[in-house]
Amino acid sequence: MDLALRGRVAVVTGGSKGIGLAVVRTLLEEGAFVVAASRSGSPGLADLAGPNLLHAAGDLMDPAFPAELVERAVGAFGGLDILVNNAGGPPPGVVLPRGPFLDGTDTDWQAVFEFNLFAVMRLTRVALPHLVERGGTIVNVSSSLARQPGTNNYEYAAAKAAVSHVSKGLSEEFGPQGVRVNTVSPGITRTNWWTDEGGVADMFAGAMGVDRDTLLDKTLPEMMRLSTGRFVEPQEVADAIVLLSSPRSGSTNGSEFVVDGGMLKEI
Ligand SMILES: NC(=O)c1ccc[n+]([C@@H]2O[C@H](COP(=O)([O-])OP(=O)(O)OC[C@H]3O[C@@H](n4cnc5c(N)ncnc54)[C@H](OP(=O)(O)O)[C@@H]3O)[C@@H](O)[C@H]2O)c1
Repeated sequence: MDLALRGRVAVVTGGSKGIGLAVVRTLLEEGAFVVAASRSGSPGLADLAGPNLLHAAGDLMDPAFPAELVERAVGAFGGLDILVNNAGGPPPGVVLPRGPFLDGTDTDWQAVFEFNLFAVMRLTRVALPHLVERGGTIVNVSSSLARQPGTNNYEYAAAKAAVSHVSKGLSEEFGPQGVRVNTVSPGITRTNWWTDEGGVADMFAGAMGVDRDTLLDKTLPEMMRLSTGRFVEPQEVADAIVLLSSPRSGSTNGSEFVVDGGMLKEI
């Protein structure tokens, strides 16, 4: 299927690793111009270097960065067609997953909301005039946790629920102006956040007394009741994001694609 993305200009936040890197790679393969935003580069991003890719280094916790990012994209490639608000997760100084409600301070909540919600809204605000001009599209990356409240990660799940909520509202307001807004909600996805040395897999493995491979391949998929029996791969989330970015999804607006290996059980 030709996704008709050749020559379109995309900004992908958190584009140096994990799901974002898979989105950047896939958009480049489809012939798009891509601006990948992250604080640092990465070997994966360096492998993709070429005339269609720009790495915009910056910190999304800095309120000035979104405007600079959009300006760089428009300056480099002449406009903006696709915004993928992918960066999210634990901001600096916050370790997720985090347990009991009473352990969370205002500072934790503010940092998580700053990164997962406010930064997304700031970038969306500055990108929208350009997207309206070219009939562009936004894909926001939320989380299956947005729809599954639990007794941990309160602030992260609440911030992601807000992202899903605002995405739907934006689709209503900007759909008539030619801009589609959709959400992709990944479940547990095998990214660096899980697999890095000392990362979440090691934390869980230590706490549960199993080795990290058993944890990733068996214990967690069983515990989370994944009907596929395994973690989601970053590319599988990226494929959903890129399909929604494509004009082939022209009638998909205000939708949420859940890519979670069957974790959510409700209809
Ligand atoms: N992995 C999962 O299991 C899972 C599940 C549900 C939802 N999600 C969501 O999926 C999205 C991607 O997650 P991921 O696991 O692929 O992430 P990841 O592998 O940890 O990558 C995070 C990306 O964001 C960038 N980043 C981090 N802090 C930043 C900041 N302050 N400013 C600019 N860029 C920053 C990182 O680069 P630098 O460090 O160089 O800045 C990196 O490119 C997130 O929204 C996450 O909440 C993930």
